[in-house]
Amino acid sequence: MELLLRSPLDMHLHLRQDEMLDVVAPLSAQHFAGAVIMPNLIPPINSLERLLCYTTEVKRAAGDHRFDPYMTLFFRDYTHEELVAAKPFIIGIKLYPAGATTNSESGVSQIMAMEHVYEMMQELDIPLLVHGETHGFVMDREHEFCDVYRNLATRFPRLRITMEHITTEAAVSLLDEFENLRATVTPHHLLLTLDDVVGGLMNPHVFCKPVAKRPEDRAALLAAALLTHPRLMMGSDSAPHPVDRKESSGCAAGIFTAPIILPLLVELFDKHNALEKLQAFVSDNARRLYGVEPPTTTVHLVKEQMTIPMSYGSVVPMWAGRTISWRVAEVS
Ligand code: DOR
Ligand code: ZN
Repeated sequence: MELLLRSPLDMHLHLRQDEMLDVVAPLSAQHFAGAVIMPNLIPPINSLERLLCYTTEVKRAAGDHRFDPYMTLFFRDYTHEELVAAKPFIIGIKLYPAGATTNSESGVSQIMAMEHVYEMMQELDIPLLVHGETHGFVMDREHEFCDVYRNLATRFPRLRITMEHITTEAAVSLLDEFENLRATVTPHHLLLTLDDVVGGLMNPHVFCKPVAKRPEDRAALLAAALLTHPRLMMGSDSAPHPVDRKESSGCAAGIFTAPIILPLLVELFDKHNALEKLQAFVSDNARRLYGVEPPTTTVHLVKEQMTIPMSYGSVVPMWAGRTISWRVAEVS
């Protein structure tokens, strides 16, 4: 059995910098025709100058693969002039609530105090990508943030807002309330619940923000993905950390999936007899919603067992050592 995917896109990806970038960028670029690159570096990518340098580094690290990096700026109080100058080089601006996740300390403390920036982004048609968590109880953070999404979507009806890495039934329902909301969902949130993280022995390699939730949340995400909700896109949130930052007290949040995303998704969609829905979820919806035209590639997957490697450089992937039933045979 086999499956062909055309120009798969990863609409939420962390590539880091320096040696880590060199390890992980080729692993995404070998399978994906493009990816939305997150800006939460130290220091964050919050100026055009830094953005252009980082774009060059990413392209160099991706090597000869046909791969378009869709760059993002880290949200701050930008001027109109800065937004106009940056627009040709970015796909959107990523807003992190201050302190919500890895390297987000310089994020936004008062989200609704930034209305003048959303207003300009709406006028310039620059999408707003959002890490949607409050500082409440960890399992309730995304649910609580839904009020912020409602507020933004209502006050800025022409602003294209992406709810990044949604994890709850509540966020899935919001998609149908507002035309200007769209969302990414990760493969790991389609596969895991909190039980996989802390239900038995604690597994740092599946710990991320937002944390995996309840079975009913996972079921709602999966139903939306399998039905290919027209405003839902695959964004892996593959977020590598060196093994000593994961297997330690104060474990960093982030799950590394980049090299196994497509086999994981094909296995899951195959299990639910929905293989024909995968193309929209991993490429076509994103192309339509963002108006991007990635390089033409074809990924050929075959139903043959693959054992997930124990590590890639210093990074341990999700489900290291487990055998899954599909693998990538060829990319052309
Ligand atoms: O688990 C996460 N890791 N969630 C995020 O939002 C950021 C990411 C990272 O950069 O490591
Ligand atoms: Zn992320």
